[in-house]
Amino acid sequence: MKKIENLRDLFIEQGREFYGSTYQEERALHSMEKQAGNPDLKKLIAQEITLTRDQRKRLESAFSRINAGFEIESDPCCESLISQTREIVDRASEPDVRDAAIINGIQKLNHLKISSLGTMAAFANQIGEHDTAQAFHDVLEEEWEIDHKLSRLAERNVNRKAARELIV
Ligand SMILES: [Fe+2]
Repeated sequence: MKKIENLRDLFIEQGREFYGSTYQEERALHSMEKQAGNPDLKKLIAQEITLTRDQRKRLESAFSRINAGFEIESDPCCESLISQTREIVDRASEPDVRDAAIINGIQKLNHLKISSLGTMAAFANQIGEHDTAQAFHDVLEEEWEIDHKLSRLAERNVNRKAARELIV
């Protein structure tokens, strides 16, 4: 494996991992879209799939601007979150509880992305790649926005339905 000798190397390494995670996320979202029962949740997942593809295209052009090239690296943290979510969702026998588990899983994935996007933007700014920094910053804002939409849907709708059986 190539040595990481400076901040640019580190930025590119982490950027590749992030880029790879967009493929992993998209695949996971497709299967969760199929398993979701709530129509609003299905709609939000479909929106997030489109958004993830669009983010990937923007990151591709940002990276080609700085001649970083792309080898796709998959993100092991992302993979383990996805398989953990898949297992929980498969075990949820009630459709509303399953929807709550799906939202939980997607939010964990989004938070994982959010945790590195700010750093990626800061690295890019530090090495003088301000347009690339802006691209990462935009993705960060979009992830927060979708996260809020998912929280609203969970709190106002899905979680309440999932808890119905418990209320006597
Ligand atoms: Fe996402």
